[in-house]
Amino acid sequence: MQKTQRRVAPHPLLLGYYADEGQRQKYLADSFRATAPHYDGINRWMSFWTDRWYRRQALLRSGLAAGMEMADVGCGTGIVSELARGIVGPGGHVVSIDPSAAMMAEAVAKGRVAAPVIGRAEALPVGSGTVDHLCMGFALRHVADLRTTFQEYLRVLRPGGRLLLMEMTPPPRGILKHVLKGYMRYAVPALTRMTTGSGAATDLYAYCWDTFENCVPPQTVLDTLAEVGFERPSRHVAARIFSEYTARKAM
Ligand SMILES: C[S@@+](CC[C@H](N)C(=O)[O-])C[C@H]1O[C@@H](n2cnc3c(N)ncnc32)[C@H](O)[C@@H]1O
Repeated sequence: MQKTQRRVAPHPLLLGYYADEGQRQKYLADSFRATAPHYDGINRWMSFWTDRWYRRQALLRSGLAAGMEMADVGCGTGIVSELARGIVGPGGHVVSIDPSAAMMAEAVAKGRVAAPVIGRAEALPVGSGTVDHLCMGFALRHVADLRTTFQEYLRVLRPGGRLLLMEMTPPPRGILKHVLKGYMRYAVPALTRMTTGSGAATDLYAYCWDTFENCVPPQTVLDTLAEVGFERPSRHVAARIFSEYTARKAM
């Protein structure tokens, strides 16, 4: 008899926001729809204007190079896609995937994406063995199941293909955690309300911290990558709070 594989949720249901998986997905869809016009502006100031610089460094560290076929999953407003297109150059190609039509519309309007596709990480609308590099930037906490997602990533990568997952991982305790929480959980939502007037965007940024804080430990991400068959899963930590998970598909 075949064993059913255990689901690995990135975080438990956050009952202050929704009661079940269906409501979680609706909450995310509504929140990103409302936040889409404000996302880039908030991202810029909340990261002290380092958002683009950091993402580009992480892409280069992960081995993205000229001529590669790349998939940007959870592309949002297309920041990673635009940076990746600059790195892969005219000989490469970037497909940009996101379930939110509103986030994608921002990416298209800003001319950042060449191949926009509406879709989710758990069921990628991409052929098997077609990409050299797959990146997911700050969206891993939103998938329903890490195992299904990583199986999909393994499916679409070519043999030898590289994976990069960028996430924020607050330290579990200590002064840095409290400072970061004060900023991300309270100051960023308050400033978001002041600068955008959007209740939904304000709520989404508070929610984001709650997902960081409740996220599975980094070792679970690494173990799940290994369990589905990725080689050499590893984690690079930048500025003590940014996790860059990388792994390879076997040759
Ligand atoms: C915080 S934004 C990150 C956008 C972009 N990658 C960046 O680095 O700025 C998270 C994005 O993940 C998308 N998302 C939510 N659930 C997803 C899923 N199951 N699969 C793929 N993307 C998802 C959202 O629509 C949103 O655009």
